[in-house]
Amino acid sequence: MEVFTSIASLRTFLKQQRTLGKSIGLVPTMGALHQGHLSLLNQANAENDISVCSIFVNPTQFNNPEDLAKYPRTLDADCALLQTVNCSAVFAPSSEEMYPEPPLLTFDFGSLETVMEGASRPGHFNGVGIVVSKLFNIVQPDRAYFGQKDIQQVSVIKRLVTDLSFQLELVICPTVRDASGLAMSSRNQRLNDTEIAIAPNIFRILTEAKEKILNGRHMNEVKEEAALAFSKIPEFTLDYFEITNLNTLLPITSLQDRGSNTICVAAFLGPVRLIDNIIF
Ligand code: PAF
Repeated sequence: MEVFTSIASLRTFLKQQRTLGKSIGLVPTMGALHQGHLSLLNQANAENDISVCSIFVNPTQFNNPEDLAKYPRTLDADCALLQTVNCSAVFAPSSEEMYPEPPLLTFDFGSLETVMEGASRPGHFNGVGIVVSKLFNIVQPDRAYFGQKDIQQVSVIKRLVTDLSFQLELVICPTVRDASGLAMSSRNQRLNDTEIAIAPNIFRILTEAKEKILNGRHMNEVKEEAALAFSKIPEFTLDYFEITNLNTLLPITSLQDRGSNTICVAAFLGPVRLIDNIIF
């Protein structure tokens, strides 16, 4: 497995691979890798001749400097994990390499970014749009892999690919959970033992809400009960709990077609902000 820190050296390597007729799968990450990332890598390896994992804690997508400073950076451990899943190449650039100058270009994803994560983290999807566009241009992958856990990011990136005609296939992979139901996230590393024990309540409350909706309960009531359930666990501060349409991400009040109903949640557990969702 080769580790590249410069855009030029990665491009030279990938050009050789393309000349040999190899297809390329890209897994963009911010490091602190876990089983969720490894499942993306496994799928990329299964569907492409070579896999590239980018590891870059992208400053332009953080609106909270403390969150950026505290984001776990574990490059050596990440590379060791990537070797276990036969990753072909790692791209781990510095901020200066990715942003020799602060970008002037900005992205506005309209209604896709005025709700939920976009509303809570102004500028976040602009930063995601910038870095993902750069990675697509640098790597020029045949396929790029993203996790369903970041559901709004998935919608934004789908739109990015459509609007800018990126020539690649987006592959969206299911959320990987531990035995307790907790969605794998790099941020889980920042939870203490008490918080780790409490965190699975997020998926429990999501699942209960889904069951209530499928049993015909009114969505507004279900939302209120979910908020109440979070308020009963003092370690949580609920940011949002939204029942939405998968495609528009806008709130819904009645059941949509199967597979289009989505419940999205963001909650602080102590200082750590966790997100999750369920689609049904
Ligand atoms: O999902 C993430 O880890 C990041 O938002 C991404 C897609 C790697 C862009 O920095």
